[in-house]
Amino acid sequence: MKIGAPKETFKGEDRVAITPQSALALQKLGYECLIEAGAGAAARFSDEDYKEAGVEVVKTAAALWKAVEVVAKVRPPSDAEVKKLRKGQTLISFFYPAQNEALLNKVKDRDANLIAMDMVPRISRAQKMDALSSMANIAGYRAVIEASNNFGRFFTGQITAAGKVPPAKVLVIGAGVAGLAAIGAAQSMGAIVRAFDVRPEVAEQIESMGAEFLFLDFKESGSGDGGYAAPSSPEFREKQLACFREQAPDVDIVITTALIPGRDAPKLWLEDMVAAMKPGSVVVDLAAERGGNCDLTVMDQKVETKNGVTVVGYTDFPSRMAAQSSTLYSTNIRHMMDDLTPEKDGQIVHNMDDDVIRGATATFDGAVTFPPPSPKIQAIAKAAPKAPEKTPEEVAAEEMAAMKKAGRSQTLTLIAGGLMMAFIGAFAPASFMQHFIVFALSCFVGFQVIWNVSHALHTPLMAVTNAISGIIILGALLQIGSSSTIVMVLAAISVLIASINIVGGFMVTRRMLAMFQKS
Ligand code: NAI
Repeated sequence: MKIGAPKETFKGEDRVAITPQSALALQKLGYECLIEAGAGAAARFSDEDYKEAGVEVVKTAAALWKAVEVVAKVRPPSDAEVKKLRKGQTLISFFYPAQNEALLNKVKDRDANLIAMDMVPRISRAQKMDALSSMANIAGYRAVIEASNNFGRFFTGQITAAGKVPPAKVLVIGAGVAGLAAIGAAQSMGAIVRAFDVRPEVAEQIESMGAEFLFLDFKESGSGDGGYAAPSSPEFREKQLACFREQAPDVDIVITTALIPGRDAPKLWLEDMVAAMKPGSVVVDLAAERGGNCDLTVMDQKVETKNGVTVVGYTDFPSRMAAQSSTLYSTNIRHMMDDLTPEKDGQIVHNMDDDVIRGATATFDGAVTFPPPSPKIQAIAKAAPKAPEKTPEEVAAEEMAAMKKAGRSQTLTLIAGGLMMAFIGAFAPASFMQHFIVFALSCFVGFQVIWNVSHALHTPLMAVTNAISGIIILGALLQIGSSSTIVMVLAAISVLIASINIVGGFMVTRRMLAMFQKS
């Protein structure tokens, strides 16, 4: 099959859905790749780069739409582009089907299959296809750059010969993907960063990045389904606003990213808070597209208030970093194609039983398939009845009972083991028994040590198992020259299995370490 990306027609959109790099990966999946001439130019990918990557450069958009079975795009298609769709053709792009119902029906009427990248469910397996997160990550980073560009001071504190410069104070409201990226960027530029979110579980993440989480003394969790927030109660909101009002005169930069999917952005940075900010302060409102978190945000514009506060309401932050966002977005598309091509033979298998594919598919086989059912994993979690919360006394009593039970079963195991040893010892030679007891004890100790280690610590544990595997190899090498064939074969198998364990351990450790390396 052929997959192609046309030049984006939305004014000011610089991103492109296929890059030379992603085209190479798509070709490995068995697809022929096409690109409209100049489609990647604004993201700094020339037609020559595409040709070098084996991509066919097509002169016009019309020719491209006609030639391919799969069209990859960034922005939702325009009416004119929808008219170019044909029966059975697949379109992959951002679409926002809930907000674009009329357009969705037009795609259905063309009998085309639509994969909306914004509908990829936020489950672990789909992270590599989560284009919303990729873009939000860039938007969060860019929001900090934009803020610093409009803030006439350093972010980092300095002591210079000319005087002391205090660090900038940044407040991030909403610590989802964009918020966390903004916290990371502001923190790395040396600012003092504070953050707030209605979901208390993000406090740990915020603090682990070196920022301060603004706790509210209020008993309400703002967590909803699927890692998103739930709407707050009016009392909670009042408390939250009081906290922000206190922060307003102190902070220099406010970056707002608060949003609950499918709703208008909550108003959290009100007019009086902007009025209380120091002149030269900056508010960057990432939620501008959905009405904005700040009262004074004007969508797609930068405005300055009477008291000299700059309010930035751009909605195209990812496009302002087109090279980076195209690279990440095209990788998300490539991973989606990977899932759609199980045989890696350049043929799409649109498996509607797959949670991720089903979730993202908005039209299929001439029918609208939006909204999708909740992913099965989530559905199972929901179906399972929640156990009632236990009191500390009940928890303590349960722990005591579990300990007693474990103690009893351990005693029984030891008695059974002792009896078995006595039985074997009655028949086996003394030299065998000596080795056998050491073997049985080491199995017992090894099992106890590993079984009681929490799962989170299994990677460091691997270092220990590598050492044990080393001892096994040493022992096996001593035996491998034995005259007995059985001993030789067993020793060889031990060397093989222990080597696999050691090599595997090193490989996993390398991958883990690579995650923390900067380049
Ligand atoms: P997300 O869903 O990961 O994060 C939103 C966060 O806001 C969540 O952590 C949620 O708990 C929090 N939140 C919700 N209601 C809140 C409230 N009342 N008070 C405090 N926190 C609250 O979303 P993501 O992916 O981080 O995107 C954030 C925003 O950035 C969205 O509005 C998105 O549309 C926007 N965005 C803007 C772009 C631009 O160019 N302007 C580009 C990409 C994303």
